[in-house]
Amino acid sequence: VAKYLKDYRPAPFLIDRVDLEFDILDSHTSVRARMVVKRNPKADASDTLQLDGSAELVAVRLDGEALAPSAWTLADEVLTLPGVPESFILDIETRLEPAANTSLMGLYASNGNLYTQCEPEGFRKITYYLDRPDVMAKFSTTLIADRQRFPVLLSNGNKVGEGLTENRKRHWVKWVDPYRKPAYLFAVVAGKLSVLRDHYTTRGGRKVTLEIYVAPADMDKTAHAMSSLKKSMQWDEQVFGLEYDLDTYMIVAVGDFNMGAMENKGLNIFNTKFVLANRETATDFDFEGVEAVIAHEYFHNWTGNRVTCRDWFQLSLKEGLTVFRDQEFSADMQSRAVKRIEDARGLRALQFPEDAGPTAHPVRPESYIEMNNFYTLTVYEKGAEVVRMIHTLVGAAGFRQGMDLYFRRHDGQAVTCEDFVAAMADANHIDLTQFKRWYSQAGTPVLDVSLDWFAEGGAASLTVRQHCPDTPGQTDKLPFHIPLAVGLLAADGSELPVTLASDDAPGPLTRVLSVTEAEQTFTFVGLNEKPLPSLLRNFSAPVRLNYAYRDEELAFLCAHDSDAFNRWEAGQTLATRELLRLYRGEGEATLSACLIDAFAQLLDHADSDPAFAALALTLPAEVELLELQDHADPARLCQVREQARAELAQALAERWDAAWRRHSGLAFRHEDAGRRALKNLALSYLALLPGGDAGALASQQYQQADNMTDRMGALAALADSHSHARDTLFADFAQRFADEALVMDKWFTLQAGSRRQDVLRTVTALMEHPAFALTNPNKVRALIGAFGRNLAAFHAADGSGYRFMADQVLAIDAINPQVASRLVSCFNRRSRVEPARAELMRVELARVLAHDGLSRDVYEIVSKNLNA
Ligand code: ARG
Ligand code: ZN
Repeated sequence: VAKYLKDYRPAPFLIDRVDLEFDILDSHTSVRARMVVKRNPKADASDTLQLDGSAELVAVRLDGEALAPSAWTLADEVLTLPGVPESFILDIETRLEPAANTSLMGLYASNGNLYTQCEPEGFRKITYYLDRPDVMAKFSTTLIADRQRFPVLLSNGNKVGEGLTENRKRHWVKWVDPYRKPAYLFAVVAGKLSVLRDHYTTRGGRKVTLEIYVAPADMDKTAHAMSSLKKSMQWDEQVFGLEYDLDTYMIVAVGDFNMGAMENKGLNIFNTKFVLANRETATDFDFEGVEAVIAHEYFHNWTGNRVTCRDWFQLSLKEGLTVFRDQEFSADMQSRAVKRIEDARGLRALQFPEDAGPTAHPVRPESYIEMNNFYTLTVYEKGAEVVRMIHTLVGAAGFRQGMDLYFRRHDGQAVTCEDFVAAMADANHIDLTQFKRWYSQAGTPVLDVSLDWFAEGGAASLTVRQHCPDTPGQTDKLPFHIPLAVGLLAADGSELPVTLASDDAPGPLTRVLSVTEAEQTFTFVGLNEKPLPSLLRNFSAPVRLNYAYRDEELAFLCAHDSDAFNRWEAGQTLATRELLRLYRGEGEATLSACLIDAFAQLLDHADSDPAFAALALTLPAEVELLELQDHADPARLCQVREQARAELAQALAERWDAAWRRHSGLAFRHEDAGRRALKNLALSYLALLPGGDAGALASQQYQQADNMTDRMGALAALADSHSHARDTLFADFAQRFADEALVMDKWFTLQAGSRRQDVLRTVTALMEHPAFALTNPNKVRALIGAFGRNLAAFHAADGSGYRFMADQVLAIDAINPQVASRLVSCFNRRSRVEPARAELMRVELARVLAHDGLSRDVYEIVSKNLNA
């Protein structure tokens, strides 16, 4: 059954306090919850008390009196208690079996330790509760467990007491969280863990103890997370004036985790992937990921915890805003332009397809069957773009004022996306009414832009038309309010002021136009020559933009645009055109000289910004091309892209070789990440040269590597080959890193993503590898998830990829529905592929849907797919 935004009602009861006691025993854990409950004056007085819960219920007591089973009903995970007083104390006792909990929601075991994940609706697996974010209570938690097996006992807030039990074999720790919070922010951790401790003094003088808990063997991989945390704390003070508010900030890393990390108040729980990093085991990309996710969870303390969501439809209130904040943080820590390109590329490769597929939904969804399915790229990444557009419209200072007002109004509250936009609008005295359509209308808007030149008047008019494709349940959308950043280039590559007739002085070199109508014309004046427009600078809105550039104009922008994003963009547009032309078999069967020259130039200037060059010299991803071609044959798309890469390898062979040599053999420095990226890209091109010595170069790089980026670069360059060098390196790697779970994940992923014909056989065999486990989400994503992203293999013409994936989805669904439902989403681009494959996909989906005992999670995704 679906839940609807329009059905929102305030909670009938409120919970003022909850005191929890976890008695951790060998066979099970007993949980006693004592809640102080009262009727919500803002709700309907006739509503009965209904608590969410799915744990084994042992006892219910109301104001100290045990309730007979006849005094309550329990059905469909709802405990109904009719006829309760206006205010009362409710005691609930439940019995949990964390070791048997493979869903990794609620209380679960990993490696003998216990962890929780409660967002969004996991608390109900622990006890019976009003498990909704607008019910905010003060929590205390007492944990009791064996001292030897569970020396570390953690929960939210501050530790207020600890001691031994009578026989001294067990100990207890009590935690009190002084801040009200919804149940989804609750957490406990119990087990044998080592800790890295440090301190941070806030601007206001609070001395905060910082702790990172990991398995003892991983202590040598915690320094980067700690320094990332301190940078995040400092950045939030400087940019937003936000300080930490407890005496301890704890981060715990766990190897079995459904998502990236979780912002539980004072006690973040992280996937090891986003904590552990050292030079030998983590790539530059991994280091970046750790820094970003540590920042993200830290920033949630204000945008998420202090101000939380009224209901789960508002998830983007905290996620979109917090992603925006972590993006800005990362931009300040590294190259802003490179970060923007990475984010836009991710959005286009992953969120645009979601917006065009069967599960498309607005940033603020209107309904859901399983909330876990809505932790999506749309809610997170497009949500962040929506916040960024407000930032673009009001400027950095205006945005800060809006944030200040937001906290002044809503600290301690559970609010809506409307409330956030209202704070931004009010603080800046602007009208964002139309802008709010970004929250309610799904789909990626398309801008069709043209330019007319009036030589006599020295004027150019830019005509912008917008439309948004229909999405499931939404047709005939209204125009969006789109900030369109525009620049104008002269023939000599210089920038011309963007001046409107209404200006009394020359305008800025980049101008943000507010596009609000279905069709709108902007006239620029004071021009002596026909300008070349640079459109949607810095990707100022999450839209697709069409403009009839000539190839030479794109090459010109690629070389001269002052906006780095658009330099990258022009090259990508040119490459996309070429790839689609080759795919369709139009014109010559080789790449145009225009593209090859553009790449040659990029490569000649690469050393001034190697990180940028590495991005610019990478062809658009296959998934992006798939979105642009109806009835696509994915295998052929991959083949065309590979062929284009091979051509670029040959045409620029000496340059790739020189680039690889220039950036090889350097002593490791973190700040050389861009050089490593460029070098490894060069190696991947060199690997495509027929009769080249890439095997030897890669082996040399691998053997001499003093860091994981270079080792992986070497391995990746050979991943598609059948050479002896390849087999030797892969075997060496597996042996060297057999005990490093996260490193083995990389090894799985490279093999699952290979172009080799035998991928499916390899993946099937790897599922038997001792380092693989179907119960571990990281492993499943690394191997099976990566196979699903391997377009050529997944879309094998005989349907073998689809069949394999459907089998795995069903097997994993019985273990962990959340992981299964992510996997099955690789079928969501069914409508883009040619009919024979689409039919094979449909058959497999129908088989999944017909399966007995399918989870809600998978049911929701598959039924939407089949109904689209
Ligand atoms: N709030 C977390 C974050 O974005 C994500 C938690 C999602 N967990 C889940 N099981 N759906 O940082
Ligand atoms: Zn988040």
